[in-house]
Amino acid sequence: MAKTAIRGSISLKNKDQLALMREAGRIVAQTLALTESAAIPGVSTAELDRMAESHIRRSGAKPSFKGYHGYPATLCTSLNEEIVHGIPSPSRVLRAGDLLKIDCGAIYRGWQGDAAVTVVVGGSTNGAVKLVEATRESLDRGIARVQAGGHVSDIGEEIETYARSQGYEVVRKYCGHGIGRSLHEEPPVFNFGPPGEGPLLRPGMVICIEPMLNAGTGETEELEDGWTVRTADGKLSAHFEHTVAVTQDGPRILTLP
Ligand code: MF3
Ligand code: CO
Repeated sequence: MAKTAIRGSISLKNKDQLALMREAGRIVAQTLALTESAAIPGVSTAELDRMAESHIRRSGAKPSFKGYHGYPATLCTSLNEEIVHGIPSPSRVLRAGDLLKIDCGAIYRGWQGDAAVTVVVGGSTNGAVKLVEATRESLDRGIARVQAGGHVSDIGEEIETYARSQGYEVVRKYCGHGIGRSLHEEPPVFNFGPPGEGPLLRPGMVICIEPMLNAGTGETEELEDGWTVRTADGKLSAHFEHTVAVTQDGPRILTLP
């Protein structure tokens, strides 16, 4: 999400509400798995979007991005130097070696799930895989910092430190977010420190953690379509996201199949 969009206070979810968010998260994870395996050379991003929408509706849920501030699709599909919010199109046909970011949100009985993955189309090519693995690892390390009593910015500090150690820059202009009945709730979850700042993590909070790592500069540009965000220097970017609940026993990832 963009930096300034959040309004309101942090909501805490009870057990029943978390169970519904888990269902939303499961549907999102299944949709990502389905589209990820369909993302082969020759397939357009619009075809992936159609598959995603029909899977979500078949599961008794609704796409959450479609219509959000006028966004036209179920998925965000961002290629190569595109970071996030790429719009699926019949003219964007996947080629071997493309770095594809798939971002998906679903609403199940009023509750939201939101997650993203990066895939290398047609299997591995060397440089890109290291960036993808570092981004996935930065998300895992950020999630491990989800501990009641810690601060939200401890997560960002962990992500930024790991990204830098691998030679990558984090995107600063876009961030993760709280989630619940709305896609974007308080608090913002930045991908950088310093630690020990921002709200305390409390059981019942649910947040989306979404590191965006760039091979070159962390600076971004927005395209004329009003949505697509790309790297300012045209170098590659990768993105992973999970919806995570804070529990007494640590993090609980809701967007697993
Ligand atoms: N995961 C993205 C986010 O948190 C998806 C938003 S795309 C939009 O910002 F189209 F819905 F805005
Ligand atoms: Co998100």
